[in-house]
Amino acid sequence: MKNPTILAIETSCDETAAAVIKNGEIASSIIASQAELHNKYGGVVPEVAAREHVPVMTPTIDLALKKAGLKLKDLDVIAVTQGPGLATSLHVGIDAAKTLALALDIPLLPINHMEAHVYANFAESEIKFPALVLIVSGGHTMLALMKGHGQIKVIGETLDDAAGEAFDKTAKLLGLGYPGGPMISKLAVNGSPTSYNFPRPMINSKDLRFSFSGLKTSVLYTVQKIRTLDKKTKANLAASVQNAIVETLISKTEQAAKKNKVKTLMLAGGVAANKMLREEFIKLADKLNLEYSIPPMMYCTDNAAMIALAAYYRIVNKKAKFTRNFRAEPNLSL
Ligand code: KG4
Ligand code: ZN
Repeated sequence: MKNPTILAIETSCDETAAAVIKNGEIASSIIASQAELHNKYGGVVPEVAAREHVPVMTPTIDLALKKAGLKLKDLDVIAVTQGPGLATSLHVGIDAAKTLALALDIPLLPINHMEAHVYANFAESEIKFPALVLIVSGGHTMLALMKGHGQIKVIGETLDDAAGEAFDKTAKLLGLGYPGGPMISKLAVNGSPTSYNFPRPMINSKDLRFSFSGLKTSVLYTVQKIRTLDKKTKANLAASVQNAIVETLISKTEQAAKKNKVKTLMLAGGVAANKMLREEFIKLADKLNLEYSIPPMMYCTDNAAMIALAAYYRIVNKKAKFTRNFRAEPNLSL
């Protein structure tokens, strides 16, 4: 298949998303977020998420097609997130994708959500391989080497919490709601990053492993000791936590870049939307004299355009394994 028109579907967590790639370009990307709904629970409730995906799925697909100026019959391939993610949420997207592929009699391509996060980098630019990728999302924190298309190897991972989780849990402790990352970074603007000295977990370990659960505990103890959690104190806490997370991520990325001969530093995942991380990542690439790539903001957090991109590159590089016979894989690894 030379230049496939692809409809991609993503429902791994609390976003119902559909996107279209046409002539190698993203023609539409629609995201229906449930964040507001989960905000009152302080995190995503799986049953609620799955139930909400169902009525929103078809209108989201319709809108993605309409925006791309296409009809169902114009599609060559359907791509869908297979995992990792919440089982109940994944099922909704997979069922929709299987039904469409069967009805239209076109190939179906299951896609790894984490690979797709990496492919968000290909929305606007080509990447020089080999590349080192820092993948930071709500459920994952990984360093990986990408030697070419479809060749991504994990070289470092978190032992416990993910970086996004550290943002989310801190936000919860500060009573900021969900998702925590954007709220912490907004609050951090008015705070001092050096007012609290939170631990930089495993920053001095000679390997590429991360650990963020101790940071969360340290924030908890600090908050418990504070009598009045006023606006300024919250801002200082947010700025200090953000500083600790970003510094740890950048330090490990630097270690990995020095250990492996790479041409490009790539950032991926929802936490890549963090302004401080984006700035520090660019500074690191400049310091190491490497090229860098950071996804456009709208393709950092969960979306279907990245699923479409991962599918597109798999297909044009003849690495696509089309099948209608697969199940949701909540723990799918890279
Ligand atoms: O990749 P993603 O959308 O979903 C998963 O695959 O997990 O990542 C979501 C994570 C959440 O933990 C959220 O708090 C974090 O990304 N996030 C941020 C920012 N925007 C989203 N973290 C820090 N700063 C942000 N601006
Ligand atoms: Zn994600």
